[in-house]
Amino acid sequence: MSATDAVFDAMRQSEMRAWVGDAEPRAIGEQNFRSIVENFPLRRDHTVFDFGCGIGRTSVPLAEFLTEGRLIGADMVAKQIQFCHLEIASRFPNTAFRCTRAHNPHYYPYAAADRDTAIDEAAFFAAHHGMFDLTVAFSVFTHSIRRWPLAICGRCAT
Ligand SMILES: C[S@@+](CC[C@H](N)C(=O)[O-])C[C@H]1O[C@@H](n2cnc3c(N)ncnc32)[C@H](O)[C@@H]1O
Repeated sequence: MSATDAVFDAMRQSEMRAWVGDAEPRAIGEQNFRSIVENFPLRRDHTVFDFGCGIGRTSVPLAEFLTEGRLIGADMVAKQIQFCHLEIASRFPNTAFRCTRAHNPHYYPYAAADRDTAIDEAAFFAAHHGMFDLTVAFSVFTHSIRRWPLAICGRCAT
């Protein structure tokens, strides 16, 4: 079984699949990836930021593609980031995932217990300023009430 097959299998079996919309995870991830490459001249040596990565449905096809680059994912729900560490970063060394302490009450029921250990969102963005060739954020702004500082993300596909 390939690394990609194994990760998507783990997603199908995870309760967190429902937290990110409960659709077939591979179909969503591959659909998102297609929309990226159709709209952006993505190169294999690019560094891509998956903002609000959830359990990494989009991160996985990106990690597969970025053979000479990197995929950084961040999400405010620590349990999802733990999943990404365990299932994705362990198989794709070109990936890294961080839990950020963010303001989005919609997700507080999932994130509340982790807010003290997560990295401050502003500090994360400051530390990564200018590092990304592309930021993607699928189904994140549709679940948020705040305005976003898109300028710090550079080019952004949502
Ligand atoms: C509907 S899910 C989509 C997950 C992923 N992008 C995908 O398509 O599979 C939205 C995700 O955004 C995350 N999120 C929402 N606001 C966020 C914020 N301010 N910072 C980090 N993550 C956030 C949530 O925790 C959740 O995992």
